[in-house]
Amino acid sequence: MALVLSLFGSPRDTSVSSHLHERFLAPLAAAGHEVRRYAAYAMDVRPCIACGHCRDSFSCVHDDEMTALYPLLVQARLVSVSSPVYFSGLPGPLKTVIDRCQALWELARRECISGARDGFFISVGEGDYPRQFEPSVVTMRHFFNSIGCRPLESDYLLVRADPDASPEHIAEAARAETAGIRSATAMSGRA
Ligand SMILES: Cc1cc2nc3c(=O)[nH]c(=O)nc-3n(C[C@H](O)[C@H](O)[C@H](O)COP(=O)(O)O)c2cc1C
Repeated sequence: MALVLSLFGSPRDTSVSSHLHERFLAPLAAAGHEVRRYAAYAMDVRPCIACGHCRDSFSCVHDDEMTALYPLLVQARLVSVSSPVYFSGLPGPLKTVIDRCQALWELARRECISGARDGFFISVGEGDYPRQFEPSVVTMRHFFNSIGCRPLESDYLLVRADPDASPEHIAEAARAETAGIRSATAMSGRA
């Protein structure tokens, strides 16, 4: 069975994006895949300082929770990320984790880290202005490509929701589960 690495970007206990993420993960766990969850707001991760250390070595000058996460990001067959929309983009702590993946971007320049590895994204915003998800989708495309994962953009859940709504009643929950079933089937097919 394969490793699924899941990054949660919301700080809220009643988070809609986290709820949809769990609905996505349920079929993968049920299929026997190992799901490892990381909540960006709870992580000890310092910002990238652009020192260039990772240009020649797959490591970082900071020794924090990214140290253990780096090899898992290379090993994971599926990386899933959920996030609220903040000022049309990603919340700071999640973006800090992504920026620290510069070490994988550099690694991918030196050796092949891609393969049958996928990236899935869930984004939830409250507003209804046009293109509100675009900046996050572009960042996630860049992120997944950099860590050697194929962005499953046609499956992404980009959801406009009232943050006070009961997450169980969000219509997209069923779509999250369907996407999870699709990913579980694809991963089992490749095992
Ligand atoms: C600091 C901050 C910035 C936000 N910026 C936006 C925004 O630019 N566009 C938008 O649609 N919603 C924005 N929101 C609303 C959240 O995206 C919305 O409440 C979302 O449902 C929260 O997701 P969650 O339930 O997973 O935490 C913002 C909320 C906060 C706290």
